[in-house]
Amino acid sequence: MNAPLRVAVTGAAGNISYSLLWMLVNGDCFGPNQPIILHLLEITPAMEKLSGVVMELEDSAPRLLHGIVASDDPRRAFDGVNAAFLVGSRPRTAEMDRSDLIRANGPIFVGQGKALNDVAARDVRVIVVGNPCNTNCLIAQKSARDIPAQQFSAMTRLDHNRALGQLAARAGVPVEKVRDVAVWGNHSDKMYADVTRATIDGAPVSSKFEADWLRGGFLNTVATRGKAIIKARGASSAASAAGASVDHMRDWFLGSDGRVVSMAIPSEGWYGVPKGLIYSFPVTTTAGGKHEVITDWKVDDFGRAKIKENVEELEAEQAAVADLLGA
Ligand code: NAD
Ligand code: LMR
Repeated sequence: MNAPLRVAVTGAAGNISYSLLWMLVNGDCFGPNQPIILHLLEITPAMEKLSGVVMELEDSAPRLLHGIVASDDPRRAFDGVNAAFLVGSRPRTAEMDRSDLIRANGPIFVGQGKALNDVAARDVRVIVVGNPCNTNCLIAQKSARDIPAQQFSAMTRLDHNRALGQLAARAGVPVEKVRDVAVWGNHSDKMYADVTRATIDGAPVSSKFEADWLRGGFLNTVATRGKAIIKARGASSAASAAGASVDHMRDWFLGSDGRVVSMAIPSEGWYGVPKGLIYSFPVTTTAGGKHEVITDWKVDDFGRAKIKENVEELEAEQAAVADLLGA
């Protein structure tokens, strides 16, 4: 057994965490030989609910769980953590866009970014799940001045998985037959699920399905899936979101084995995306915490227009929280 990893989860008494925590203690993220110490953060009014979650975790007697820290103080919850899942924040309702949450949720990530900066392990890797996740990630990253920007990321893996799921279902094949899909941009209705390089069982996706569907129904289903789930369930996606965050973090820690995955990370100017924007790109990851953007994909006119639309939307979100970015 390795030495335990310290893993923070915020919003630990919420819906996503109620799936996520058990995936973590069962080894789905960091592997079957990696013990973890859970660091759970909640707001003060939710601490009693969190105590019930802690009881249930203890009652599950998971082999890999080597301790729990539960707190309403970010500086205590993030002390020494090597990985942080920033989930805690309000979900939207069916009438809202995710960006409508920015003034309510954005400030959360100032204090949490500063606390991570002050007390987290220097190798901490952060995924922001709370919406609007790209811009919340930007706020956290800017607030954590001493942690390298590339240790921050936002979750577009759920969109990536949704794209894989739609293609596999339509082709009638298991999901693992679908490769080289990528989600570009913002976790919003403008996201671009790009299949121009994608294959199903080795054959180009473009040879299997009509371009009209790939640029129409397919794209729209993936981009609006979050709202469809809220309408159907009366609550936003939770188990699939937890699973996607685990996929994201697992690949970041353990490597994606050559597979292309989608991560929103600080742009270094790739594909004309302005430096610093938290933008989803096609990446591969290698064990030990490296992600590498694939920088040589040919992007067609349709893709270029979508990439630009996402830049504009993220720049508008960034402008709306300018006061939170100089912390
Ligand atoms: P939820 O309301 O069930 O749980 C959120 C929890 O966060 C609550 O327990 C709340 O007390 C806690 N919280 C609020 N402010 C906090 C703070 N400052 N510090 C710590 N905890 C805090 O919501 P949920 O369904 O778990 O969703 C959480 C967030 O994840 C929402 O913003 C939602 O929109 C987002 N989300 C993102 C994706 C994605 O793909 N990026 C997918 C699904 C959900
Ligand atoms: C999702 O995509 O399911 C989440 O971002 C929740 C939402 O508000 O759509």
